[in-house]
Parts: sequence; structure tokens; C-alpha cells
Amino acid sequence: MEARRKIIIGNWKMNGRSKDLVDIDLLFKKIPQQEIDIVIAPPATLLYELKGLNTPKNLLLSGQNCHQVESGAYTGEISAAMLKDAGANYVILGHSERRTVYKETSTLVRLKALEAVKQGLTPIICVGEHLKSYENNQTLSVIERQLKVSLNSKIICDNLVIAYEPVWAIGSNKTPSPEEIEKVHSFIKNHISERFGEHATNHCRIIYGGSVNKNNALKIFSLINVDGGLIGGASLKATDFLELIMIMQNSLN
Ligand code: 13P
Repeated sequence: MEARRKIIIGNWKMNGRSKDLVDIDLLFKKIPQQEIDIVIAPPATLLYELKGLNTPKNLLLSGQNCHQVESGAYTGEISAAMLKDAGANYVILGHSERRTVYKETSTLVRLKALEAVKQGLTPIICVGEHLKSYENNQTLSVIERQLKVSLNSKIICDNLVIAYEPVWAIGSNKTPSPEEIEKVHSFIKNHISERFGEHATNHCRIIYGGSVNKNNALKIFSLINVDGGLIGGASLKATDFLELIMIMQNSLN
């Protein structure tokens, strides 16, 4: 893979049914073909259906979570192998909603990421601080702890994505300042560099998520160490997501 190609990921969370795929064609027809990677993370129930549509080559699919083992008596769970089988190339792990609501720890995130890599999925590992830590100037130490435990050398793969998503910025219409985002991204980059070396640093993409919209996207996507975006609300409608894709495209120039 070309080093650190920009990537935009639409996380639909628990939204979307077959009937909502009617305008997805519009997205497929209009997205730029080459320059950026586009990923959609629909609910698992729609992966197979989306895969069957005529998806452009640079549009890939992602799961939103996976179990840490391959198969077995785990009612209600979905394994990395199953996501792969349904058409996913990526899987989001350690999203703050899973860390907060389902009490997922960084240790569990690491086990899930190892299983994902074993099954040929690229992990999108989310990190981010709660409001209190942000206000107490503890952002970097929180991120460092999460990275230390969530990552190991077996998880480092050429496509690995780390998503910085401040918990307080998700769905709140608030974001850190561009300077603050850049500071955290360059901190993550240094962490990768010190632990895993130059090749990993050149290939691991560090993306930002949390209230990205058409008004703030260009500024955020143009930051030196921001390799893309993880988009929630603004990825649900094809027209809104397309607008952000075009903004990312423009940020390349
Ligand atoms: P919003 O873009 O809706 O703030 O969600 C961000 C997010 O959680 C993506 O994973």
C-alpha cells in the first residue's frame, strides 16, 4: 500500500436497514475512484448485502466490533472470521461507546485486534479521553495508556488505523481546536515510532473522529498528521457523506 493514503470511514453505529440502502448508489457513482480510501462500517446485518452491490474498488467495508476468539459458545457475538466472510476488510475496535457502555478495556481491545489481524481484517483502534481528563490536561497520558495496552507488535500491519476520538466530542457538535488535534496526532505518531519503528510510522494511519461536519472538515483533514476521519452522524446520509469525501479530496491539493 502507498504510505498513509487518506482514509474516510463512515460508522453507522446501530442505524440502517435494507430499505436505507436506496441512496447508496448515488455514493457509489459519485465517489472519486483513486485518491482516497473510503470505508463504510454498517451494522453487521447489512455487510453481506452491501458487498453484493456494485461497490467501487476503493470503497471497503468494516465491522463495528468483533469477538476475541474465532468461534464457539458466545451467544450474540460476531467473530472476526464472520465479518471477513460477510465482506469486511476492516473492523472498528475499542470505540468509546463500547469502552463506556460495555466496559471494554484496552486489554480486551488488544485481544480483539490480534484476532482481527489473524483473520485478515485491519483493525481501526479507537482511543480518546473523557471530558474530565481533557479539562484536567490529562489527554496525552490517557492516550498513552490506551495505546500501550491496546497495541503490540503483532497488531502492527501495513493498513493499521488508529482513530483519535475524544469521547466528549462524539455527537456533541464540539471538537478540540485544530492545534489540539494536531498535538495528539503527533503524540500518537511518536508513540508508534518509538515502539514500532519507521515502517510502522510510515504506514499506520492516524485519523480523527468526533463531530466532523462539512463546516470543520477541511481544517481538520488538512492538518499534517491527520490521515483521515471517522465519521458518525454525517455518514448516515449518502449526500452528507459524499460531501465530506469531496472535502477530503480537496484537502489533498
Ligand atoms: P459523530 O461524527 O456523530 O460525532 O460520531 C463520531 C464517532 O463516534 C464515529 O465513530
